[in-house]
Amino acid sequence: MACGQAPPPESAVPAVANPGLATSLLTPATLEQIEQGTFPYDDDRPDPGNRPPPVPPAEPLALGRHIALTSCSECHGHTLEGWGGDDPTPSLVLVNKAYTPEKFARLLRTGEVAAGGDSTSGLMTGVADSRFAHTLTDGEIEALKLYLDSR
Ligand code: HEC
Repeated sequence: MACGQAPPPESAVPAVANPGLATSLLTPATLEQIEQGTFPYDDDRPDPGNRPPPVPPAEPLALGRHIALTSCSECHGHTLEGWGGDDPTPSLVLVNKAYTPEKFARLLRTGEVAAGGDSTSGLMTGVADSRFAHTLTDGEIEALKLYLDSR
């Protein structure tokens, strides 16, 4: 034990050597499918043409598209038009039209929707409050709005 390091608490599980422990929870068959590009579930494969660049693009429209496809598509769908079926998450392309640039920035900074107050289920308000308010710059929000307005 390093000098000055507190001893582990009494209840701590002692470290043991376990050389047979798998390095991945995925089965060898699944790992092979991923390696070969034949894994059937869409979420685990980049969409053709949607492979994120190593660094975000600088040009505003391209930056806006990049942010939309890396930060919003998880819930709003790969095309940003919702997942369809019984998923209630709206098309960003349509719902964006109800937002002025000021209200759009307010949503991403505070979670308050265009009509005022929290979003229907609270999920969008929560994700804006816990994620986007801390990660997106003013310039990135403007670029995102520019891109959504272009759709
Ligand atoms: C974790 C899931 C999730 C992510 C990520 C997400 N959204 Fe949403 N969003 C929702 C849901 C769900 C709704 C529908 C309202 C609700 O129930 O919260 C919504 C609704 C919206 C609305 C309409 C709100 C209204 O009722 O007026 C806008 C605009 C919006 N999202 C923008 C974005 C943008 C821009 C991004 C990416 C920066 C994003 N969302 C990322 C889940 C998400």
